[in-house]
Amino acid sequence: MQTLHTIAELRAAVRQHRQAGKRIALVPTMGNLHQGHLRLVETALQQADVVITSIFVNPLQFGANEDLDSYPRTLAEDQQHLAAAGCHLVFAPSVAEVYPEGQEQQTLVEVPGLSDLHCGASRPGHFRGVTTVVCKLFNMVQPDIAVFGLKDYQQVAVIRKMVRDLCIPVDIIGVPTERADNGLALSSRNGYLTPEELALAPLLQRTLQQTATAIRNGAQDFSALEDSAQSSLEAAGFRRDYFRILNRDTLKPALPEDDKVILAAAFLGRARLIDNIEI
Ligand code: PAJ
Repeated sequence: MQTLHTIAELRAAVRQHRQAGKRIALVPTMGNLHQGHLRLVETALQQADVVITSIFVNPLQFGANEDLDSYPRTLAEDQQHLAAAGCHLVFAPSVAEVYPEGQEQQTLVEVPGLSDLHCGASRPGHFRGVTTVVCKLFNMVQPDIAVFGLKDYQQVAVIRKMVRDLCIPVDIIGVPTERADNGLALSSRNGYLTPEELALAPLLQRTLQQTATAIRNGAQDFSALEDSAQSSLEAAGFRRDYFRILNRDTLKPALPEDDKVILAAAFLGRARLIDNIEI
């Protein structure tokens, strides 16, 4: 498995694969890889000949008070996991390689509307940072497919919209959330939790499941369901961010007949956890 750090080296490697007629998959990550990320690589390997995983902690998507500096950076371990998973190429650029003009970069990619809801409302500018870096990665690699996790449900929706709006020739593949046996969605940020918080964390998924069951059994007062879910999370020790029953496509409040998703975010200790369930 090759590891490359510059766009020029990356482009040269990609050109060779493309000339050999290979189908190329990109798996964008911020590193500190766990089984959820490796599931994306596995999916990419099933659908392409060459799998490129990018590892880049993107400063543009972190808010001023967020965990950019403390975000775990574990390149050596990540390389071992990726090699074992069968990844062909790791692209691990520096911040200066991706943003050579630093704060002076003037072109930003923004998906207004979708990006302003839910996680976007709680983390202003976050999705602009995500879409800008993902668009840049798409331009660097020009992959046939790109693989994302449905744990970050809104992120996938925003990226799909960007790809449609900008006619970017890439197929977006969404992969179901990888979980611990107790239901907790795997996340690099779970590492911020104390043992007590880790024991409490699966309640987020359990609360989503209970709410989904109530809806499947005919409950239609969605705002009452949302309030009661928030209250039980708070009573257990979470701090409130949002818990919303939504239309799966628009991510606007769901009507009873819609295909639905419940998106939830809550703070626990130092971590902000997100999860979701489709109904
Ligand atoms: P990161 O949080 O490192 O996640 C990289 C990819 O792994 C994302 O597509 C995410 O949805 C997926 N992922 C994380 N946990 C998962 C789990 N438990 N099961 C399945 N997939 C999971 O998301 C980002 O990085 C960044 O915003 C990025 C897209 C790389 C842009 O900087």
